Amino acid sequence: MGRLVEAAKVSELGDNAKKKVVLEGQEILLARVGDKYYAVGNRCTHLNGDLSEGKLEGTIITCPRHQSQFDLKDGSVVRWLKGQGVVSRIGGALKSSRPLKTYKVTVEGDAVLVEI
Ligand code: FES
Repeated sequence: MGRLVEAAKVSELGDNAKKKVVLEGQEILLARVGDKYYAVGNRCTHLNGDLSEGKLEGTIITCPRHQSQFDLKDGSVVRWLKGQGVVSRIGGALKSSRPLKTYKVTVEGDAVLVEI
């Protein structure tokens, strides 16, 4: 078991809110969907797109660079790149899909804690 580190206050994250946090050198995307909190690696596994700038729909985050999608529940790849264009074909050939790292999140009082 890792160490619990405070990532945010409960009051900072409304429903469907997300934010980038850096905890012990690790860039993490923290999100709240309904009454659940999720934490995943903030950098897209394709070419390091900043997922905190992506679109969050339910638990699905879309990378702002080439629109790969990941499920915050388990970090799994929902869609690897978008479309059939040259960029997608080349990008898919150069890098195969990889899930995001996930982190366990717990809430204690007003603190949202991430296990590092
Ligand atoms: S960097 Fe995220 S899909 Fe390319």
